[in-house]
Amino acid sequence: EELLRLSLFSTMAKPVSIEVYNPNGKYRVVSTKPMPGTRWINLLVDQGCRVEICHLKKTILSVEDIIDLIGDKCDGVIGQLTEDWGETLFSALSKAGGKAFSNMAVGYNNVDVEAANKYGIAVGNTPGVLTETTAELAASLSLAAARRIVEADEFMRGGLYEGWLPHLFVGNLLKGQTVGVIGAGRIGSAYARMMVEGFKMNLIYFDLYQSTRLEKFVTAYGQFLKANGEQPVTWKRASSMEEVLREADLISLHPVLDKTTYHLVNKERLAMMKKEAILVNCSRGPVIDEAALVEHLKENPMFRVGLDVFEEEPFMKPGLADTKNAIVVPHIASASKWTREGMATLAALNVLGRVKGYPIWHDPNRVDPFLNENASPPNASPSIVNSKALGLPVSKL
Ligand code: GLV
Repeated sequence: EELLRLSLFSTMAKPVSIEVYNPNGKYRVVSTKPMPGTRWINLLVDQGCRVEICHLKKTILSVEDIIDLIGDKCDGVIGQLTEDWGETLFSALSKAGGKAFSNMAVGYNNVDVEAANKYGIAVGNTPGVLTETTAELAASLSLAAARRIVEADEFMRGGLYEGWLPHLFVGNLLKGQTVGVIGAGRIGSAYARMMVEGFKMNLIYFDLYQSTRLEKFVTAYGQFLKANGEQPVTWKRASSMEEVLREADLISLHPVLDKTTYHLVNKERLAMMKKEAILVNCSRGPVIDEAALVEHLKENPMFRVGLDVFEEEPFMKPGLADTKNAIVVPHIASASKWTREGMATLAALNVLGRVKGYPIWHDPNRVDPFLNENASPPNASPSIVNSKALGLPVSKL
């Protein structure tokens, strides 16, 4: 198998460093970033693709950068959630003969799907492989906020520890408290289970859809605890988001970002929460009015927050970095090795499937067959979000 490292210089003075695999491949597939693992590259190369990986130093590529990468002939692109995939890029990709774009992410609020539909370009995402990893980060932030781990770590490293004290870094006990989940889809439900099962919290959730599986789980677990002579856990499906905000001690946000969830948590809704509540966000930054949150954190020192995402990444709203009651991490919720390699594989297979004319996998939540490293993946695109709009065929079971 051929591996060729080239340094190309585009017509502009801007140097673009591109890594090329299988230069004589029939289909040209571009990845706007290097991605973890090598399986995704091998799968594309094995099915006749020339794979080009952009190593441009800047973190966030502009639309112009990506137009350069697409060039005159491009069959498909694997891109990132930091990129603005709209009319301009889909038009350029379509002109270059492209059939597919896949985000290496489950969220695709950076993609104008209507524009993709207009040019007949399939849009892929990567569900099913990051559910538990993302829920585990939400759980980590919940615990870190409840027990003030980051503040305590800074204190220790700062040489401030002079010995055990009854008042030192007193936080919240989660057991027996209520966890509130807003958006009980794949990730929200996985998080709810972790907090109920692991920390014996009661659950209140808000979602437009009923999560019967989650409810059944909590009921059964409550019965199990009771049979063991322990306090059972309970669940409640809230009829409004406000009900969750008022009643929960710990709240985690797991909605998609769209017009209906922009600034879902604003000044008024922050005011409804308990003074000592904990708020966690591993969804998308604009779901919270971040400036209002900074004010709320300043006025309520016992209120704590764990944030993985920000309204205008990579920036934080003024004042956030100075608050002791916020824990901030740089959008790493899906960052486990297994998950990131799996996301790269799913994104590559989304594109490959369309390039080769394969059907769309019947259930984007059950992508295990694509992730088994000891077998060839099914000949299908694992998850194409606009497959219905484009009338693409669905694979049989
Ligand atoms: C990451 O934020 C993702 O949507 O996968």
